[in-house]
Amino acid sequence: MKVLIINASPRVNGNTSIAVNELVKTFEQEGVQTETVQIGTKVIRGCIACGKCAQLGKCVFDDAVNELAPKFREADGLVVATPVYYASANATLIACLDRLFFSTPFDKTMKVGASVVVARRGGCSATFDELNKYFTISGMPVASSSYWNSVHGRETGEAAYDAEGLLTMRTLARNMSFLMKSIALGREKFGVPQKEPWQPTHFIRADLSGK
Ligand SMILES: Cc1cc2nc3c(=O)[nH]c(=O)nc-3n(C[C@H](O)[C@H](O)[C@H](O)COP(=O)(O)O)c2cc1C
Repeated sequence: MKVLIINASPRVNGNTSIAVNELVKTFEQEGVQTETVQIGTKVIRGCIACGKCAQLGKCVFDDAVNELAPKFREADGLVVATPVYYASANATLIACLDRLFFSTPFDKTMKVGASVVVARRGGCSATFDELNKYFTISGMPVASSSYWNSVHGRETGEAAYDAEGLLTMRTLARNMSFLMKSIALGREKFGVPQKEPWQPTHFIRADLSGK
């Protein structure tokens, strides 16, 4: 049982790392392996909608996204952790996740997702909602905790004093471990849910277009 953790902070031992370390310790206690990849200082460009990934099975830009893809494929769960920048995930993480989710052809159904947001003060809920949307369009159950997964701090190290934030992290890791283990049992007993072919609609109806 393995969880991939993407830490989007550019600060090596910043507040996001403090939140992530609390998760890692608790996952260890639960017998769940983790691998953390910190992408905050990497150059990760945004998606250019070229569609080449449909043929290649990977992104046309060979950067950290294509390195993360096989790790994500093997993982039972994915945690994305970010510092809040202007009430959003930072730009590096959004560029990374747009391309990672769009370019990878493997089935993500029933991999468990969780997002963690770290801020001085504001924008946590908006960022939490923003990140959970990658999971909920991908058939990924979202692990939850005793609060929306936020930890507070501004200067490096301050997050260590957010006792409730760290409790939220420990609870999240325990709940996520339980969910992943339960899903593994469920796979054995019931199999994965049936999938119907995708039926894309885009709200445009030729008969109403006036042509
Ligand atoms: C460009 C930028 C934008 C930020 N925007 C916000 C914000 O919208 N809300 C907030 O509470 N903190 C904001 N912050 C503060 C960081 O979220 C905070 O310092 C956080 O602890 C950084 O995490 P790190 O140490 O892991 O990098 C911002 C920081 C930067 C550099």
